[in-house]
Amino acid sequence: MKKLTVGVLFGGCSTEHEVSLSSAAAVVNHLNRDKYDIVMIGITRDGRWYRFFGEADDIQRDRWSLNPSCVPVVLSPNRAMKGLVELIGTEFRFTPLDVVFPVLHGKNGEDGTMQGLLELAGIPFVGCDTLSSAACMDKAVAKTLVSAAGIAIPASVTLNAESSLEDMLAAEELGYPLYVKPARSGSSIGISKAYDRQELVDGIRNALLHDSKIVIEQHVVGVELGCAVLGDAIPEIGAIDEIELTGEFFDNVEKYSLNTATIHLPARISARKAEEVKEMALEIYRALGCAGFARVDLFLSADGKLLFNEVNTIPGFTAKSRYPNMMRAAGIEFPELLDRLIASADREVRA
Ligand SMILES: Nc1ncnc2c1ncn2[C@@H]1O[C@H](COP(=O)(O)OP(=O)(O)O)[C@@H](O)[C@H]1O
Ligand SMILES: [Mg+2]
Repeated sequence: MKKLTVGVLFGGCSTEHEVSLSSAAAVVNHLNRDKYDIVMIGITRDGRWYRFFGEADDIQRDRWSLNPSCVPVVLSPNRAMKGLVELIGTEFRFTPLDVVFPVLHGKNGEDGTMQGLLELAGIPFVGCDTLSSAACMDKAVAKTLVSAAGIAIPASVTLNAESSLEDMLAAEELGYPLYVKPARSGSSIGISKAYDRQELVDGIRNALLHDSKIVIEQHVVGVELGCAVLGDAIPEIGAIDEIELTGEFFDNVEKYSLNTATIHLPARISARKAEEVKEMALEIYRALGCAGFARVDLFLSADGKLLFNEVNTIPGFTAKSRYPNMMRAAGIEFPELLDRLIASADREVRA
């Protein structure tokens, strides 16, 4: 069988650039070389694109862009090409791509922008389409859509940079403590927990540094559950995990250090509750138009209710990350997971 040429996109103009490097290194290391020719495409923090010919370890260690073999590239939206244009001085070389796997997190990668470019280019790609990616990235939009599908969400208000002080203080009616979040962020960046008015005002100011739109949410007392979903028409669901926190919340440091947080896989919930979680995750996946894969995050409140938190359309993908671990616990090893993702992308191009 002919090998597929798979473009792996990594890095990107995002606060989650480093996480993407770790995820991409794991993807490159686990893709089956007998099935795929890999084209590594790195995007620097300031948005320069290069084809990279070195080792995955250099991606992991954030020194890939120093490699002298890096060639400037553009991904052409011209459907007659369907591939990558390498710019070599005044010459160019063209590499067709069968499938692209955007291993990018956060802004300019997971938020529909890259998906829009790939849709224009007519190149099949792994994961959610433009609309779904954009909807999941925006916590306010995602909550509105999920709530319209009849699923419980934490009480919240949405504000922007133009909101009045009264609007901001109206959030107090939700009751402290409150979570203040940039609407479109990830890895807990810009998120804070406010216990009083001063912390609320500081939290709003801080969140507005990251986004012009923010969401203020009631604190849900309970545990966080994650659900890995894989596929399209009839998706498969991995094992459910649970985050046990002894610190304040699952912040940016905790997510990657796990000093005070413990991840339980499987979650310490009854088989019946697990079924309920899976059903709800599927409903959310469908309500938000997800495809390929996504990690659906929920809260299980102390009184036993499930509430929607968020969907990560390109969840952390290192060999130790939650999504691959949840699929492994359901019997799907990393290389097989990658095969499935590529197979689901290699369908008719979404127009
Ligand atoms: N309403 C809430 N109640 C309780 N904890 C919350 C709430 N919102 C966020 N958190 C905590 O903050 C973390 C990050 O929030 P989240 O909305 O998942 O943002 P991110 O996209 O950065 O992961 C969560 O994993 C959880 O620990
Ligand atoms: Mg989260």
